[in-house]
Amino acid sequence: MATAAAKPHGYPFEESANPHWVKRPDESQLEHIPGEKGLPVFGVTLTMLKDPPAFGRRMFEKYGSVYKAYSFGGWSVNLLGADATEMVLFNKDKIFSSEQGWGPVLNNLFPRGLMLMDFERHRADRKALSVAFKPGPMKHHCKVLGEGILERVGEWSGTDFNFYPAIKSLSLDTAASAILGIPWGPEADKINKAFVDEVQASVGVVRKPIPFTKMWRGVKAREYLLEYFTPQVKERREKGGEDIFTQICLATHENGELLTEDEVVDHMNFLMMAAHDTITSSATSMTYLLAKHPEWQDKVREECLSVAPAGQQLSFDDLGKLELTEMAFKEALRLIPPVPSMPRRAIKEFTYRNYTIPAGTNVGISPSFVHKMEKHWPDPQKFDPMRFTPDKIAARHKYAWVPFGGGAHMCLGLHFAYMQIKILMHAMLTQNRVLLQGGPDYEPKWQVFPIPQPKDGLPVRLERI
Ligand code: HEM
Repeated sequence: MATAAAKPHGYPFEESANPHWVKRPDESQLEHIPGEKGLPVFGVTLTMLKDPPAFGRRMFEKYGSVYKAYSFGGWSVNLLGADATEMVLFNKDKIFSSEQGWGPVLNNLFPRGLMLMDFERHRADRKALSVAFKPGPMKHHCKVLGEGILERVGEWSGTDFNFYPAIKSLSLDTAASAILGIPWGPEADKINKAFVDEVQASVGVVRKPIPFTKMWRGVKAREYLLEYFTPQVKERREKGGEDIFTQICLATHENGELLTEDEVVDHMNFLMMAAHDTITSSATSMTYLLAKHPEWQDKVREECLSVAPAGQQLSFDDLGKLELTEMAFKEALRLIPPVPSMPRRAIKEFTYRNYTIPAGTNVGISPSFVHKMEKHWPDPQKFDPMRFTPDKIAARHKYAWVPFGGGAHMCLGLHFAYMQIKILMHAMLTQNRVLLQGGPDYEPKWQVFPIPQPKDGLPVRLERI
């Protein structure tokens, strides 16, 4: 297989390797938009990375809901608020490209994944992939996740441990079994390591695979995964199975033709990335918030016990009965959204709040900002799952809560995510009380970028009840 370094036209993420991407405007075309350039070369990258929500709030107070900032080597225009989020995500006039927004971050490692596609091509591939999330396969995923999670939570029970690394390892293993359909063990460990290297590389500072950098390791990991997945496509088509990989091997385009081997492999590679850090982050924040709010932990426990006894696996039909658990999860996603901001590139000029924004502009929207706006969320820092009763949801702006995005690119795995979290909470809380080792007043420091995680790993105790 050719190495990435030998490719003649630069790496896939580079503008030159993607001549269809709309050229970014130069500084003079954005002169009329308020904002900051920051330091030479770095711009505001370092200040922003230190605390992205605080940076967003400061810019909002100083410049309002439309501002520009120079970061990661270029200008972006950020649009804050539920209306802007709706305009960008709903994308009625097909102005915003997800491929060209995410491309500079993800294209080197996850090219041709769903978020790296736009419009008609994206619609058709998304439709093909959605077979893997239909009720039949979901029942299978529910069983596989249930077995793995119960066994691992049994090992945690009665012990002190750091929750974040433990759930990260568990969600990689459950992804290996439910998504890839391979048993836990040395093979899964090798694949998991390759995914971790790819994800690390996608946020590495060095953007070219120079030897020994994160990007170099990530590109090598991608090559390993492609070599691993490709020969399996044929085998899986012959053998069949309900795991997501096999379902995608068997998926067809609208004309009835199977996806090509390359298409299957690229989609799988992207899907594993989309699934695992997001689940890890949200399971951690929910566990932290329930440990911090024991009255809610008791309510969730009571509801879980009313649906299935301790130690028993939840059935697929049980999942819909866990309403309070789902509300608590939604509130955790509001307070600590795993994807705090989403990039797009405008492929046509557009106007928002009297600003004309030229074609080629990188546009950012921010779930972490809109999730805390007082206008939509009274007392926004308070943990209150009752914000998600059906009447409260109906009364709120539809785009005030967007942890899974919205519009054509809305998370394809969101029901899988709800399922996994409900199974985890049932397994953990029906047999244990979750306590923070640092005591009830303890507040971990969060690393926000690229996906929120507690810096100290979140030391917890699972006390048997
Ligand atoms: C709590 C967990 C999760 C969160 C918060 C989350 C969040 C998101 C968000 C915000 C997007 C859209 C990004 C954008 O429009 O720019 C997205 C897309 C996606 N997610 Fe998730 N995700 C989660 C779990 C999962 C899981 C478990 C899977 C797969 C099993 C998955 C698969 C995908 C896929 C395939 C896309 C691309 C959809 C498209 O472009 O059409 N996600 N996710």
